[in-house]
Amino acid sequence: MARSAIINVMVQTAMKAGRSLARDFGEVQNLQVSLKGPGDYVSQADRKAEEIIYQELSRARPGYSFLMEERGTVPGDDDQHRWIVDPLDGTTNFLHGIPIFSISIALERQGQIVAGVIYNPAMDELYTAERGGGAFMNDRRLRVAGRAKLSDAVIGTGIPHLGRGHHGHALIDLRNVMGEVAGIRRLGSAALDLAYVAAGRMDGFFEDALAPWDMAAGILMVREAGGFASDRDGGQEMFDNGTIVAGNEQMHKSLLKTLQQRKG
Ligand code: IPD
Ligand code: CA
Ligand code: CA
Repeated sequence: MARSAIINVMVQTAMKAGRSLARDFGEVQNLQVSLKGPGDYVSQADRKAEEIIYQELSRARPGYSFLMEERGTVPGDDDQHRWIVDPLDGTTNFLHGIPIFSISIALERQGQIVAGVIYNPAMDELYTAERGGGAFMNDRRLRVAGRAKLSDAVIGTGIPHLGRGHHGHALIDLRNVMGEVAGIRRLGSAALDLAYVAAGRMDGFFEDALAPWDMAAGILMVREAGGFASDRDGGQEMFDNGTIVAGNEQMHKSLLKTLQQRKG
């Protein structure tokens, strides 16, 4: 499969950062047994991966702006282009030696996401999408699952925890969704959740309180695989209100309806 120049840049960057994360992940698995645990080590791994991504992308496309989880906003001379990057999505999994984590890189042009790469180095799964060009995993074209009924569906979500998110709201959503579906999964990497929806592994996904870097590449992935993504009101303000609902057309609609049972 021929990849465009921009996807190539993003893939090379994600793979390079991925090699760094994979090395550190191996080390984390060794550190698991120590009392202090690998916490500081993981923050370093995260920052190291972000540094690699920042250097590689700045070199390949000088002047583009950045929105990165650790660095925040880095303005560039070119205000038409912005990289949106999570160098390690699934930190809690990484810290606990669970091989479900990813690097997420999206490119926004004039406010529109035009390219996305999500890479899980532990499983060597590389997801790519370009606007109008389809979505792929390791060169295999992706298509969202065809299931139309919630009762057949496996739905991914995020569950807030100590110090994070609105626990009461999440419990209401879970109660509303769990009674209607075949299964709920909490993978621990929102970027991979969306990639899994694109790949048809999960039928849908919803979460609140996400940041743009958690979902930018994944939104494009889902759409390029023929799916739908919106905020929980059905609008396109995902980056502003931090909510997302995704799936095939029918599943997206049904999930929105189910989630709307919670007002406020
Ligand atoms: C987290 C993951 C997780 C989601 C959290 C995010 P991080 O990102 O995407 O699945 O539930 O809301 O913050 O902290 O591992 O980069
Ligand atoms: Ca994240
Ligand atoms: Ca992160």
